[in-house]
Formats: sequence, C-alpha cells, structure tokens
Amino acid sequence: MNNNDLTNEIRNKVDIVDIIGERIPLVSKGKNFFGVCPFHDDTNPSMSVSREKQIYRCFSCGASGNVFTFLMDYEHKEFKEVLKDLGDRVGINTSNIKIKKKDTKYDNLYDAYLFSTKYFQNNLASSYGREARDYLSKRGITEEVIKEFEIGLSLDKKNDLTNLLINKKYDLKTLNEIGLSIDDRDIYIDRIMFPLYDTYGKIVGFSGRIYNENKQNKYINTKETSIFKKGHCLYHYHIAKDTCRVSKSVIIMEGFMDVIRASTIGIKNTVALMGTALTKEQIMLIKRLSNNVILCLDGDSPGVKASLKIGEVLQNEGLNVKVVTLPNDDDPDTFILTNGKERFQGLIDSAVNFGDYKIDSLKNNVDFNSESSLAEYINSVLQETIKINDEIRVEIILKKLAKDYNIGYNTLEKRFKELKKDTKASKIEIKKEPKKKRKDKYSLAVEQLIYYMLNNDWVVTAVENEKIIFPSNEARLLTSEVIYYYKKHGEINIADFYTYMQDKTDLLDLLNEIVSNNYKETITKDELFAYFKVIREYSMNEQIKRLEKKIKEEPDIMEQARISEQIRKLKLGE
Ligand code: UTP
Ligand code: MN
Repeated sequence: MNNNDLTNEIRNKVDIVDIIGERIPLVSKGKNFFGVCPFHDDTNPSMSVSREKQIYRCFSCGASGNVFTFLMDYEHKEFKEVLKDLGDRVGINTSNIKIKKKDTKYDNLYDAYLFSTKYFQNNLASSYGREARDYLSKRGITEEVIKEFEIGLSLDKKNDLTNLLINKKYDLKTLNEIGLSIDDRDIYIDRIMFPLYDTYGKIVGFSGRIYNENKQNKYINTKETSIFKKGHCLYHYHIAKDTCRVSKSVIIMEGFMDVIRASTIGIKNTVALMGTALTKEQIMLIKRLSNNVILCLDGDSPGVKASLKIGEVLQNEGLNVKVVTLPNDDDPDTFILTNGKERFQGLIDSAVNFGDYKIDSLKNNVDFNSESSLAEYINSVLQETIKINDEIRVEIILKKLAKDYNIGYNTLEKRFKELKKDTKASKIEIKKEPKKKRKDKYSLAVEQLIYYMLNNDWVVTAVENEKIIFPSNEARLLTSEVIYYYKKHGEINIADFYTYMQDKTDLLDLLNEIVSNNYKETITKDELFAYFKVIREYSMNEQIKRLEKKIKEEPDIMEQARISEQIRKLKLGE
C-alpha cells in the first residue's frame, strides 16, 4: 500500500460526524449535520457536516475540508500528528507513512528563531551565563525547567547574534523586519530569553527579561510579524491543547512565569494572556481548549478588575467560568513558591462560579446604611442572578438576599421574574446574513462548473471534452487538478480530493470558496452548456480587448488591418 491508500483508509474508517461531533455540538437536519463553525466568530450554526460525503463546509466563512483538515485547523496540529491520532483510534500504524514536510514562505523566519533559541541556550549554559543562572535558580527555576521551556540568555555585546545570522546569509533588512536586530545591532541585550510559541508549538518570537535591577522595561517582546500576532497567541497553547482535554478545563493566567511555575508542579492545562487585552481570536482559542475556564489572575486590584471583565466576556460567550482569588497580591508564581502544590491545587479545586464572584464583588462599594444604595445593590445582584442558568443556585441566592437584608422572598422573586422577562424580550437574535463578495457572472460560472465537477463525475468528462479555457490561472490549475484526480482514480471522492490537494496551498482558498457554496447537488446538461457559453463569451471578450490594445500600439497600417479583421471574425463567432 502506498501512503495515499493508507491515509484514505484511515479517513474511511472514521466518521467525520463523530470526530467533529466530539468537539462541537451537531444537530442533524435532513441529510446533513449542523453546528456553530469554530473557524470564525459566530453563534449561528453555519457549518454543515455531510456523513455521505465526509466533508464539512461553512457557508459563512468559507472553511471546508475533510476530517484531516478539520483536525489540523481545529487542534492546530500538523498533518502528521492528526494522521497519527486518527490512526491510533482505528488501529492503523502510521509510523511508516512518509510525509513531505511542507515548505512555507516563512521557513526562513522559523529557522532564524530556532537558530537564535539555540544560541541563547548556549549563552546561558556558558560562563557568560553565571549571573543569569543564579537569578533563575534563586527564583526556583531548575535546569529541567530551563530545558523544557528552552530558556536562554542574550549577551551584553553589541551585535553578536546579528553577525552570526548575517554569516548564515540573512540580510539586515530581514533581521530588522523579524525583530531580532535594530539597524546592525542586536535587539536583545543581556536579558533572559523566553521563546514564544505559536499554536502549533513553533517558536515565533521571544520575551526577554531583565535579571539585574539597573535596567528599564521588565520584559521586551518581539514585535509583531507576519507569523507572530500577539492577539492571536496564548502562551503555552500548544501544550494546553492536549492537557486540557484530559483535565477538562483550562486555567488562564496573566504571565508566562505563572504558567511555567504551575508546570513545575504538574499543572499544565494553563495558558497566559501575556499582558494583552483579550481578543476575539484568543476567545476562539480558549473555546477550543475547553468549555470550562478557570481564571487565575494576579491577586492585586488590577487582577481582580481583569477577572471581572474577562469573566464577563467569556461567560457571554457561553463558557462556564470560575474564578480563583489569590491572597495578598500574589500571582500564581509567588503563591505556588510560598505555599506549595497542595494549597494551590486546593484553590483551583474550590474556584467559585463567576456569577457568585461577580455578585460578591458588587458588595464592595455599597453603603449599607443608605436605603437607596442598598436598593441599588439588590437590584444589581438580581441583574446578575438572571444570567445564571441554574434554578437551584438562583433560589439559594434569592433566599440568602431575603434573609441577609430582611426582604420578603416573594418580593424578590417577583422582581427577579420581571427582570428575566425583560431581557428575554430584548434578546431576540437578529440572524446575520453571511457577507460574501458579489461576484461577476464569469467567476460565478467558473465556480459553479468546478463545484459540479467535484460533485458529478460526468461533468468532469464534459468539461474536459469541451476544452474550455478558464479565465483565471487559479481556476485553470484547479480544474486540471480535478481532471487529473479523476483520471487517476476513475471517480471523484471529494473527501480524498482534499487530502490530495493538501500541499497545493495556492489553490486551497479557491477550493474552499467553491465547496462552501450552498448550490444544489446536480445540474442538467442545458445548465452546463449555459455555463460553457458564459465562460466562452468571457474568453472572447478578453481576447478582443487584448487585440484592441494591440491595434493601438501597432504602427504598421497593414498589420492594423489584419488585427481588426481578426476582431471582426471573433465578434461574428467564427
Ligand atoms: P507580570 O508583570 O505579571 O509578569 O506581567 P510576571 O509573570 O509576574 O513576571 P515576573 O514574575 O516579574 O518575572 C504579566 C505579563 O505581561 C507581559 C508579560 O508577557 C508577562 O508575562 N509584560 C509584563 C510585558 O510584556 N512587559 C512588561 O514589561 C511586563
Ligand atoms: Mn510574577
């Protein structure tokens, strides 16, 4: 068996509906299953999954593919990892399958960061690193942790790394662009270097920390590049994506030192925000890790404020949010250092529901001697309580309020119900229509043709016989891939076609765009010929335009006449 056969066999042995259904809720409707697409920010079920075709497609954002592409995108894994996971699941050994490493235009960048990481690691281990090693050891960062998190040291020399990279054929312009140099000097001078990883676990930048007092800026981070967008990252995501599945929760911390510390006591289902405001992309990443979020931010007042703000956002996204409050302005790092593993685990286990946390926080500025202030407080508690989807907890809260402030339970309940009704009325959702660019009829005809080729074998033959010339390069290439695939396999299996197309990255956007259309399944011969006509008309117009341009540039009158005759013939359809 060759690679492709084994790959397709694995794909055939799993059902895409199971695999996707284990990760996002799907409901069946007609022939297909529908769920909320995890690849764009949405609450409507715009993703459809077909058991028959073993593909998924999102009518809103245009994501589409087979079980492999779904897992690669959803779990941020490379093809090889996904193949191994699924192979393990169905009992097929994948260790002999050879997979070509995909070259990307960013390989150069990744290599530069990898080289720098090794260089920083060597520095830390060398005699230059004594003071930094002392600092780390004082903070309880062991050799083992240094290795695991690939921690290093930049030197107190002007342009050591820059020169090394230039000797490796990088030019200064690139080094400046990717945040390793400024002009011809190193950016990081004498700092402890922490690599930053993308969601796949590739190093895409650094955070450099001072380790002696007489310096400004505690951390310096690599600037944003084409492969590093701060708001698209969560520190430790690439580890958490496996550990969170086991622990069924994700712990969110502020700093990456907190995450590193927690890791030393075996708590690895953690990610760090790294001092940024929570972005939409990060929320999507968190949702993929787990529905159960435990906020464990710093214990100081900015940390409390952030817990309230972030908790609110995540709760509105439908996640179950709990909050840990650390004492004495501690952050997880310092708390674990002073109190140890058991006590930290105890705090995590007894994290409080965000609703309760918020209600508790409302007490802070209330003047309980003032009636109006008290009434305002009780109203705000009720406002929070209506968000809780647990009747028992609601009753407990209302009873406690009634008792604590000596108010009739019925009065509270009546007010509660009124408030609940108000929000329900205002919560009628307006379904957003997917925004798709309007396309001209030629591109539309091209897309439809390719769509029907993928869904009906006879259309492939018809297109081939017709010798249609597609207007755009991409469409032409994609069509020839479809035809090639069809000839090789004698049929189009669209799910396997995705595997075949995997490394033809330039064509994937077009393929996704085409497949994610909600066209009907088949067409008639007449419809097909109508598409041919549209495309031929387009090619002809293009040809005429080209010739007309040529005439204008042609000095020779005889030649001009010849071209104009050509145009006349084209217009007559000869
Ligand atoms: P903290 O100041 O809480 O960092 O900032 P920390 O984890 O306690 O670090 P240590 O213990 O002093 O070493 C939280 C996060 O904010 C970002 C970093 O990513 C840090 O992990 N930050 C902080 C910066 O980017 N620059 C700074 O100067 C400070
Ligand atoms: Mn700290």
